[in-house]
Amino acid sequence: REAGCLSIIVLGASGDLAKKKTFPALFHLFQQGFLQENDVHIFGYARTKLSDDDLRERIHGYLGKVVSTENAEVLSKFLQLIKYVSGSYDSDKGFQLLDMQVSEHETSKNSQPGTSRRLFYLALPPSVYPSVCEMIRRHCMNQSDLGGWTRIVVEKPFGKDLESAEDLSAQLGELFDEKQLYRIDHYLGKELVQNLLVLRFANRFFMPLWNRDNIDNIQIVFREDFGTEGRGGYFDEYGIIRDIIQNHLLQVLCLVAMEKPVSLKPEHIRDEKVKVLQSVLPIKPEEVVLGQYEGYKDDPTVSDSSNTPTFATAVLRIHNERWEGVPFILKAGKALNSRKAEIRVQFKDVPGDIFKSKKQGRNEFVIRLQPSEAMYMKLTVKKPGLQMSTIQSELDLSYGLRYQDVKIPEAYERLILDTIRGDQQHFVRRDELRVAWEIFTPLLHSIDEGQVKPISYKPGSRGPAEADELLAKAGYVQTHGYIWIPPTLA
Ligand code: BG6
Repeated sequence: REAGCLSIIVLGASGDLAKKKTFPALFHLFQQGFLQENDVHIFGYARTKLSDDDLRERIHGYLGKVVSTENAEVLSKFLQLIKYVSGSYDSDKGFQLLDMQVSEHETSKNSQPGTSRRLFYLALPPSVYPSVCEMIRRHCMNQSDLGGWTRIVVEKPFGKDLESAEDLSAQLGELFDEKQLYRIDHYLGKELVQNLLVLRFANRFFMPLWNRDNIDNIQIVFREDFGTEGRGGYFDEYGIIRDIIQNHLLQVLCLVAMEKPVSLKPEHIRDEKVKVLQSVLPIKPEEVVLGQYEGYKDDPTVSDSSNTPTFATAVLRIHNERWEGVPFILKAGKALNSRKAEIRVQFKDVPGDIFKSKKQGRNEFVIRLQPSEAMYMKLTVKKPGLQMSTIQSELDLSYGLRYQDVKIPEAYERLILDTIRGDQQHFVRRDELRVAWEIFTPLLHSIDEGQVKPISYKPGSRGPAEADELLAKAGYVQTHGYIWIPPTLA
C-alpha cells in the first residue's frame, strides 16, 4: 500500500456545518468507494459530552432521512467508522486524548510510522481557529517523513477585513505551511465553476471573443429566495458582501477573467487568479447599491439598528489589456424572488445592423451554476416561417438533459477528496485572500461606520430598483419578451 491509513477529524462535530455539509459529504465519498473501510477512521471532536453511539445516532438522525433504504446498510457501515472525542478547543488535555485515539487507530491498522495521513476539518467559528491550530500543532501532528501528512481544512469567514484576515493568516502561518492549509470556498467545488477553465481554454469559440472588443458587460449573480433564517446572529456581523461577494462571487470572477495559466498546476492557476485580482480598481461608491429586506431586523438575534446589507450590487473594473472598460457586475441578495446563481456574459451590439426594423437582443452567454445547471447562448435567428423576421432563441446545453445518468457531486464532496489527494487547485491561497480583502475593505468599512446605508426592499422582490438602474448605467441591456426556461425531459 502506498500510503498509510487515513484519519479524518471533524472538529465541531456537533455543529451545523458538520451536520449539513461535512458528514453528508464524507458519507457520499464512502458510498462511492473513495474512503475504504479497512483504512479510514472518522473522529468527531466537540465540547459536548457524547458517546460514540450518541454521535452516530445524531448523524443517522439526519442522514437516515435522505439515504434510500437500499443504502441503509452502507450507512450503518459508515457510522461504524465514526468515533467521538470530547474536549474544549483550547485545552491540552482534549487534544492529547484526541491524538491518543488517532494514534491507536493508526497502530491498529499497522500504519508504518511516517506514512499515516491526518486530515483536520475545522467545522468551527474562526474565533477558535488559532487556539485549535495551536493545539493540533502541539499534540496531534504525525510523523510525515515517509509520505504521511497533516492537513487542515478551514472555511470562511477568514476575518472581517484586510487587517483581521491578515492577522488570522499570520497566526495560522506560524503553525502550518501553506501546503498544509486548505481554505475552502465551496463555490470552487461546483461543477460549472470547475468547468470554466475547460470552457475558456479548450474552445476555439471563446478565445477570440473573450475580451473588451466583443464583450460589453459581465454579471455574476447570486440570488436566494429566503432570508437569514436561523443565522441572523452570524449574518448580522458579516453581511452579504462578506458572506457571498468577497469570496464566492469574486472567486468566480477570477476564473472568468484571468489569463490562461501556464499549466493546470495549482500554483500556476492561483498565480493567474492573484494577478487578475491585483488589477481590480478601487470600487467607486457610486457604483454600489446596498439593500436590506424589510423584516430582517425582526429577527431577535439582529440588532434593531442594524446597517447590515442583505443585498448588494457592485461594479468591479479590471484595469488590464483584456478588460479595460468592461464592467463586472457582482450582485447578491437574500429574500429575493428567485433562487439561482449564474454568470451572464453580454456581448456588444452587432455593428452595422441591417435588421433595423426591430431592435435585436444582444448575444448572451449564460452559465447557470444552479439550480438546473446549464450553459446557453442567447442568439438571434430567423423566425421559422415564410416571412423574414427575427426572433431570440438559444443554443442550450442543459446538464439534466445531456447527462442524464450522471449525478453531479456536491461541492464539499469534491473538495474533501481534493484535500485527501493533496490538490490545492480549488482552494484559496493566502495571497489571493489578501487581495480579495483589499478590494472590499474600504467599502466594508464605510458600511460598518454607517456612512453608506442599505435601501429597504420587499422580501420576494428583485431587490432595490436602484440596483437595476445601476445595471443599466453600467451598460447592461435587458432583452425584453424572452426568458430561458430550463428544458425538461419529455
Ligand atoms: C454560504 C453562505 O457560504 O453559501 C450562505 O454563508 C449561503 O449564506 C450559501 O446560503 C449558499 O451556498 P449554495 O451552495 O447553496 O449556493
